[in-house]
Amino acid sequence: MAAEAIRTEGLTKHYGKVVAVDGLDLEVHSGEIFGFLGPNGAGKSTTIRMLLGFARATAGRAWVKDVPVQDVARAHRHLGYVAGDVAVWPQLTGMETLTYLGNLSGRVDVPFRDELIERFRFDPGRRARAYSKGNRQKLALIAALMTRPDVLLLDEPTSGLDPLMEEEFQKLAREAAERGQTVLLSSHILDEVQDVCHRVAILREGRLVQVATLDDLRGIGSTVYDVTFDGPAPDLSDVPGVTSVDPIDGIVRVTVTGPPAPLLARLGSCSVLKLRSHEPTLEEVFLSFYEADR
Ligand SMILES: Nc1ncnc2c1ncn2[C@@H]1O[C@H](COP(=O)(O)OP(=O)(O)O)[C@@H](O)[C@H]1O
Ligand SMILES: [Mg+2]
Repeated sequence: MAAEAIRTEGLTKHYGKVVAVDGLDLEVHSGEIFGFLGPNGAGKSTTIRMLLGFARATAGRAWVKDVPVQDVARAHRHLGYVAGDVAVWPQLTGMETLTYLGNLSGRVDVPFRDELIERFRFDPGRRARAYSKGNRQKLALIAALMTRPDVLLLDEPTSGLDPLMEEEFQKLAREAAERGQTVLLSSHILDEVQDVCHRVAILREGRLVQVATLDDLRGIGSTVYDVTFDGPAPDLSDVPGVTSVDPIDGIVRVTVTGPPAPLLARLGSCSVLKLRSHEPTLEEVFLSFYEADR
């Protein structure tokens, strides 16, 4: 069987009394785009820093492509990364930075590098000190992607990018996965990873709350129906599966857990002008997980 791209066993990091990461067991498969989700302070960056060998685990172990992460030279042959706080050499231009990093790794695909510069609409001619956060982020992303590493560890890589560039990033992540590369993508914004990840892990206070496919997560959640009635709204609160009924701006927002049949049957006997349903955002699903966990 092919090696897992990333594996951790009981991975733990203490900073004094703070337990940043607490016994994390994780397996990320090769070719997978894996969302690493959690609010600020959950331990995402600390985990990624341990995988990169920048921080040492207090306990537990981790491997990248079966190489122990403390074997930095070997592990980094498989790795590309965007660190949470992108640092640049202020006196170098973007292109000089990419050339320097490329020489270090010795495996840059130059036409692909230039394609990345183009697709991110990155201006490589300016000194890095003049780059905005978004441009530093683009520089880091190009540097991470241009070597086509087996495993990409990306710590909130799109936090400074506009939506168009975020979309371009998602395309690139999908292309990487199609080539068999693995992408670990951390975020505290669920909307950001919802469309692109195969599976997600939800981290809270250093612990794994859940690992699930997006379908799993949605299955647990509920569906929201926005109903516009011709005339006064009927009482829907007693319909089986209905968990809330909120009148908002002339519509009635009904949240249903489980099959919608009972609600639809009730609505069939009312005068409905308009019915719109939407799946809950991962944000809503995420919150319901938190509540269930408490
Ligand atoms: N170098 C450090 N020294 C002390 N505490 C730290 C350090 N790095 C992170 N922490 C703490 O560890 C916890 C997890 O932080 P972090 O991994 O940055 O979370 P996230 O990336 O999910 O926002 C937080 O409580 C944070 O304050
Ligand atoms: Mg972080």
